[in-house]
Amino acid sequence: MSARYLMDGPREADRLREKVDTPRWVEETLATWLARGARLLEVGTGPMHLLAAAAAHTDLRVAVGVDFSLPRLAASEHQDAQSTLAPVAADAQRLPFRDGVFDVSYTRFLLEYQPDPQKVVDEMVRATRTGGVVLLQDLDGQLVTHHPPSAELQHALELVLTGLAGRLDPYVGRKLFGLARTAGLTDIDVRIAPYHVIAGTAPPDVLDRWTRKLETAHPHVAAVLGPKAAEAVMQHFLRYLTDPDTLTFSLVFTVTGRVPPRRSGASAETQRAQLQLRRMLRRHNASPLV
Ligand SMILES: C[S@@+](CC[C@H](N)C(=O)[O-])C[C@H]1O[C@@H](n2cnc3c(N)ncnc32)[C@H](O)[C@@H]1O
Repeated sequence: MSARYLMDGPREADRLREKVDTPRWVEETLATWLARGARLLEVGTGPMHLLAAAAAHTDLRVAVGVDFSLPRLAASEHQDAQSTLAPVAADAQRLPFRDGVFDVSYTRFLLEYQPDPQKVVDEMVRATRTGGVVLLQDLDGQLVTHHPPSAELQHALELVLTGLAGRLDPYVGRKLFGLARTAGLTDIDVRIAPYHVIAGTAPPDVLDRWTRKLETAHPHVAAVLGPKAAEAVMQHFLRYLTDPDTLTFSLVFTVTGRVPPRRSGASAETQRAQLQLRRMLRRHNASPLV
């Protein structure tokens, strides 16, 4: 577990489970890529609720969930001796798998919290077989997209985001395409859908989830702004959500791509460097060296 991760707290596993209809998510997002006997990986899996739904949807060979939080993995209700689900406690930046062992790998709502999201995507590509699929899903605009603007809230949020740089990127959604390109994925597909849409007073369940989310992040925000200012921002944000005249929204980006053939002997990192060099040379009309 990392002391730098924003969303660590005893109630986090429940919040993650509650906020997604897992069978529907699998049907809409993952089902196209699942085949009987596939080896599936989720990076930043939390209590493995999405993986469990994927395993219920398709008869998989194995469904591996990586998370660095042991309490979150232990909160999974889906593990038994016969289960295809395999929890693995590890850091997303250094996946403990050989190259190309998975058919499909995905991550949802992890990259927004990563200091180096490219490293995570590169690792996912490395662990996925040639021709396999890597799926990246994350938010864009959460916390920061509102109308009408509130100068006071905006100012406080900017202070928070500056203080939390490298630990929370509310604009990571729009960056997924670039991350996929840089990682060398091919046949890249980008989809965008609404995620949070709070028009007028937020319903009680939505307000409750936001309250718990902000409470979990509170110690980190307090470390940046001081406890009083952190409490004030949190209350301000929640008041904004209850105001019948305000609109808050965010988008969810889903980017999928295929893993290209590996050049024998070259590591994923070397391949990425070669790809970048080839692109640079193309831009300068020079002949490829690699
Ligand atoms: C917001 S949750 C998302 C859980 C699940 N994917 C979902 O969509 O509901 C992010 C998860 O990633 C884990 N996590 C964050 N940084 C990580 C890292 N560097 N390595 C492994 N797990 C990480 C956290 O412990 C947390 O369980």
